[in-house]
Amino acid sequence: MSSNPLTPRQIVEKLDKYIIGQHDAKRAVAIALRNRWRRQNVSKELSEEISPKNIIMIGPTGVGKTEIARRLAKLDNSPFLKIEASKFTEVGYVGRDVESMIRDLVELAVNMVRAEEQEKVKSKAAEIAEERLLDILLPPKPAEGKVSDLIVDRTPEISDAEPLQQTDTTREKIRRFLHEGRLDGRFVELEISETKSGPMIEIFSSSGVEDMGLNIKEMFGNIFPQKKKRMRVKVPEALEILAQEEAQKLVDMDKVTKAAIERVEQSGIIFLDEIDKIVGSDTPHGPDVSREGVQRDLLPIVEGSTVNTRYGMVRTDHILFISAGAFIATKPSDLIPELQGRFPIRVELDSLGKEEFVRILTEPHNALIKQYIEMMSTEGVRLIFSEDAIEEIAEVAAVVNERTENIGARRLYTIMETLLDDISFDAPDMEEKEVTIDADYVREKLENIVEDEDLSRYIL
Ligand SMILES: Nc1ncnc2c1ncn2[C@@H]1O[C@H](COP(=O)(O)OP(=O)(O)OP(=O)(O)O)[C@@H](O)[C@H]1O
Ligand SMILES: [Mg+2]
Repeated sequence: MSSNPLTPRQIVEKLDKYIIGQHDAKRAVAIALRNRWRRQNVSKELSEEISPKNIIMIGPTGVGKTEIARRLAKLDNSPFLKIEASKFTEVGYVGRDVESMIRDLVELAVNMVRAEEQEKVKSKAAEIAEERLLDILLPPKPAEGKVSDLIVDRTPEISDAEPLQQTDTTREKIRRFLHEGRLDGRFVELEISETKSGPMIEIFSSSGVEDMGLNIKEMFGNIFPQKKKRMRVKVPEALEILAQEEAQKLVDMDKVTKAAIERVEQSGIIFLDEIDKIVGSDTPHGPDVSREGVQRDLLPIVEGSTVNTRYGMVRTDHILFISAGAFIATKPSDLIPELQGRFPIRVELDSLGKEEFVRILTEPHNALIKQYIEMMSTEGVRLIFSEDAIEEIAEVAAVVNERTENIGARRLYTIMETLLDDISFDAPDMEEKEVTIDADYVREKLENIVEDEDLSRYIL
């Protein structure tokens, strides 16, 4: 099965490249991930007995809960689905039923496995595609006449007519031209089967019919014969299209779905965001569905049950659930008891202050400061942030979070936008191609806004 050689320590290290602090949460998800690998390596009987230790991440808004999950997903080869718990409604109401997340996860895994399989047959598919293209350029049984008339008009190199019986060598010649890129500018006509389903079917599937586990696309596929599409494309693109089509043909979809289901069952991860939104008393007004009802619907899936999908039955016993919520007015203990028991691991994320902001601005691979510098360099503008400027920005973020609402690191986004508003606008027209942002610049741009609480509420 899927091997996940990353140790918990390595997982944390990888997460450290993007998320500052929040060590407990990283640790918890790292252990959970490693446990899946451990479970797959214990004896078969025992591995059936080991259930995942699901996690609840608790912490204020904007401190990295979703970010941790997102990065985790990229680390691991497991099928990973992130979904907002608040999207679900109780069975019988309009909206998504909870089982749809398993279907989505399977769909995702099928795509994943299919892509992997296609990658494996890539070179073979490319070979076949080349032959097919040569067939198009040089039909196998050309009618009487000169081969050159059929295929190589305007190509002086082979325009000196060759007799028919030399088709094979002509084919090799064209193959050579193809490899040398000399045919790249030529157009060929392709006939390919349409793989995309029509718009009508899309409408159906988004209206929830797919949630009944029906294989709508296939049903329609059988009613309407597969459409063929003719298109004129240049040679390199034709090769790509043909290779794609061949790769699809070479992949055994039965095997793919089987492997995908196996992968979901053995190593699927569902990140259930905003779980606090399905906790607590229901609002008395509006067509709100019972949140507790959603929790009850969730229970069998988290506990382990069988869900019917268009690819077959999927057992959910070993899927790992990581949930997250701010839990401001509510607590995890407000969840229905049965569900609480299924989320034994609780980790709290810390709220972020000035020190963390300084690091978030500069350290992560995708740090905001780096982003702005890169963005401006596309305009030929060299943006320089002095150290005290970054301190100042972090300070402002912390102060505004304290005075208005604490939105965590998201505050940095609004502040940076405001700070760089003028430069963003003027960059293409600037004479001076180097701009240094120091603490004075930051104060000058932001002081008035920060001091006026109402103003900062609106702008920052
Ligand atoms: N600890 C952190 N390190 C680096 N970046 C962070 C950190 N916390 C938050 N961010 C940045 O802030 C943004 C918002 O964070 P995230 O989406 O993880 O918030 P959240 O904790 O899920 O909040 P919510 O409860 O509102 O969903 C992210 O895009 C991320 O770039
Ligand atoms: Mg979030």
